[in-house]
Amino acid sequence: MDENSRVLSILGGIAISIVGFQICRKVLPWIYSNMLGPQLCGSSVNLAKMGDWAVITGSTDGIGKAYARELARKGLKLVLISRSLDKLKTVAKEIGDEFGVEVRVIDVDFTAGAEIYEKIREQTTGLDVGVLVNNVGISYDHPEYFLDCCQADPKFLRNIVSANIHSVTHMTALFMPGMVAKRKGVIINISSTAGVIPNPLLSVYSSTKAFVNKFSDDLQTEYKSKGIIIQSVQPGFVATNMSKIRKPSVFAPTPETYVKSALATLGIATQTAGYLPHALLQLVIHFTEAVLGEQFARNLVLKSIADTRKRALRRQAKQQ
Ligand SMILES: NC(=O)c1ccc[n+]([C@@H]2O[C@H](COP(=O)([O-])OP(=O)(O)OC[C@H]3O[C@@H](n4cnc5c(N)ncnc54)[C@H](OP(=O)(O)O)[C@@H]3O)[C@@H](O)[C@H]2O)c1
Repeated sequence: MDENSRVLSILGGIAISIVGFQICRKVLPWIYSNMLGPQLCGSSVNLAKMGDWAVITGSTDGIGKAYARELARKGLKLVLISRSLDKLKTVAKEIGDEFGVEVRVIDVDFTAGAEIYEKIREQTTGLDVGVLVNNVGISYDHPEYFLDCCQADPKFLRNIVSANIHSVTHMTALFMPGMVAKRKGVIINISSTAGVIPNPLLSVYSSTKAFVNKFSDDLQTEYKSKGIIIQSVQPGFVATNMSKIRKPSVFAPTPETYVKSALATLGIATQTAGYLPHALLQLVIHFTEAVLGEQFARNLVLKSIADTRKRALRRQAKQQ
């Protein structure tokens, strides 16, 4: 072997080692946390052992209601929190009757001020809360440019930050002390795939969800040694009122299918798409960014969301 061939084979060996190292470092954990772990082993976290009660925000519909049902199925008593007292009472009776657990309700609007947390504190004092699901969140009516998105509702910017960010931090501040005191507890924060991929025309919504991911990540590092499990769940489309998707599909599952899948990742992944097709979607976008460039991926997403905006505006115009 001449000198050139020897150098080439050393460089080849280094390149293969780097690729192999990256596969071990990134691909194998991805496969474990999205496929093998949840599918083969399932979550090893015993939610019923965390405490008697689970508190779920935004729990009369969609993903929040599906979490409430799954937690009741595991034997936890529930505190459901949403705006409409009538809806809360109906859902509380439905879940209470089906699973034979006590269900309490609190009606608050998470776009309101700090006083709502005082009401929640008063009505939950003395409860042994082991699980908190920070699910409530609001989004745009349709994708829109930042400067235009607040025209229909002047309070939009304040409301979306209150419901999507303040709710998560304040509810965590309310319930984590009890969990830390007994050195066990689970906090599940519902973020969105929008918080981890480019999401123009929904920029305020996606930024609030990026906050949820970052907050959850750093909080988990702070409190892992105190026995607290914190998970940020990043759904893609789920067939709910918010997404306006009526017909479920593989890429937009029912909330029940989504939540069963997401709960299987608890204790396995701290940040998770929660559902394999949504994890694959994130992977495809990140792969496109890495291979074809970030700008290319952003333009691709911009085009798709801009088309959705046009369709929504056309529908609105027809209705008027
Ligand atoms: N659906 C999706 O495709 C999707 C994708 C990614 C992330 N997410 C996230 O998943 C979470 C749940 O979304 P979803 O699609 O399940 O929503 P949804 O079906 O519209 O349900 C929203 C729930 O929150 C309550 N709620 C809404 N605004 C509220 C407020 N201001 N104060 C108190 N409660 C309020 C609603 O009840 P009331 O109306 O009675 O108050 C309802 O129980 C959100 O954080 C959302 O950002 C959803």
